[in-house]
Amino acid sequence: MTSVFGQKLREANVALTFRDVILLPGWVEVEPKDIDLKSNVTLNHKLNSPFVSSPMDTVTEAEMAVGLARLGGVGILHRNCSIEDQVKMAATVKRAESLVIRDVITLRPDQTIREAVDLMQKQQISGLPVVEKGKLIGLLTGRDVRFADADLKVCDVMTKKLVTAKEGVTIDEAKEILHRNRIEKLPIVDEEMKLRGLITFKDIMLRGQFPNAVRSEDGRLLCGAATSPFDLERAKQLDRHVDIIVIDVSHFHNANVFRATRKILDAVKADVVVGNIGTSQAAEDIVTKLDGVAGVRVGIGSGSICTTSEVAKAGSPTLYATSQVADKFRELKVDIPVIADGGIRSAGDIAVALAAGASAVMMGNLFARCKEAPGNLVAIGGQYYKQYRGMGSASAMSKRYSMDRYSIPSKGIAEGVEGWVSYKGDLVTVVQEMTEGLKASMGYAGAKNIPELWQKAKFAMMTSAGIEEAKPHDVMLPG
Ligand code: XMP
Repeated sequence: MTSVFGQKLREANVALTFRDVILLPGWVEVEPKDIDLKSNVTLNHKLNSPFVSSPMDTVTEAEMAVGLARLGGVGILHRNCSIEDQVKMAATVKRAESLVIRDVITLRPDQTIREAVDLMQKQQISGLPVVEKGKLIGLLTGRDVRFADADLKVCDVMTKKLVTAKEGVTIDEAKEILHRNRIEKLPIVDEEMKLRGLITFKDIMLRGQFPNAVRSEDGRLLCGAATSPFDLERAKQLDRHVDIIVIDVSHFHNANVFRATRKILDAVKADVVVGNIGTSQAAEDIVTKLDGVAGVRVGIGSGSICTTSEVAKAGSPTLYATSQVADKFRELKVDIPVIADGGIRSAGDIAVALAAGASAVMMGNLFARCKEAPGNLVAIGGQYYKQYRGMGSASAMSKRYSMDRYSIPSKGIAEGVEGWVSYKGDLVTVVQEMTEGLKASMGYAGAKNIPELWQKAKFAMMTSAGIEEAKPHDVMLPG
């Protein structure tokens, strides 16, 4: 009699996870400071640092997405809210800075100074172009209104001597014009003085302040957002604002999910990331059954707040999943970037995930600790903590928009927990730690960039004694 089930067990793969392995030091010809961390997060978008924040309601809203894009990564806005609220977050990220503002807020010449001041305060803008029948006729700045009578008309006090530029002006040219004329705003006009956009000194300064920022072609910060595969309307609305749409489902390798995703892929122009998946078969099916996928999110059940593997005894640890999917893509000769998602606790784990074939890593826990994350800050026993919860936790699921990710109504069980993570302060500190740690790891492996890490990195398996020895030991630590 053949032993079918015994054979299954004998053939079981070893699903290695971050703690099981260590990167071996290699021959080095590069110093950590010279290591390049640029990497594709999707087929069309490259990051300066391969860090992506999870679409979770205690991790990524507009503030995190702005902060992370400025530091070289990208944030994926969560979807545990109405379409309207998620679109608002996306618009906030996109408005945070731009080379040329296109949706310029303007004034009419017959409006009162009172109305103008109101608008300036509401929109937090210090100067507004004055437009009549589409044509630019003046500029009203904070200085113009400071001592003006509130009942006067805008046209009575506005600056009429205008300095403008034409479409196509470069940043350096714009900077020079602003500097030479000691002005802060440069309207872009066409031949007939029709207002086409606005360049501001503030936006130019922000570019200098964040040299590592990731921007889309129009100069605005790169931004992604999550949607359920079954929410075509949300995907379409988000598509007007974001560069990346993430199909956010805990088990993507599913016939209904594939069918629904096809509709989204046909309807949007943003790069579409699908996931999560955990096997080479799922990777192959994505390549052969779906057209136009621009990235995949990989790993099931490794997240720090996940209980999927415990509850369902099903999953695919992120490290194992990453290597399976990356190998399959290589075999099929496709360049779709792999985003390793879940279970990353340190810069070393980031290096290991990249070395196993990922192009970028997605993190919830490490970003939830930052000031920019939306979770509540609480003090417990003299220490500060931030709230962090799984999107499949009972409390997140009670907001109905998360229901379809972790629980179709017939499966009424939570697959995540809710808790606290210790507060780390500003995002910049956390990203700096990750960056320096990752460069140090890559330095040991002798890789000057991520493609070289894929090629050169070698792993060794850890024993439980080795795992213990790798931590500080035989020393009394403070605190
Ligand atoms: P870390 O380890 O960074 O992982 O906290 C974040 C990732 O975990 C996934 N996620 C969940 N998985 N139940 C799950 O099984 C959940 O409730 C849950 N919420 C988030 C998600 O992939 C995220 O990026």
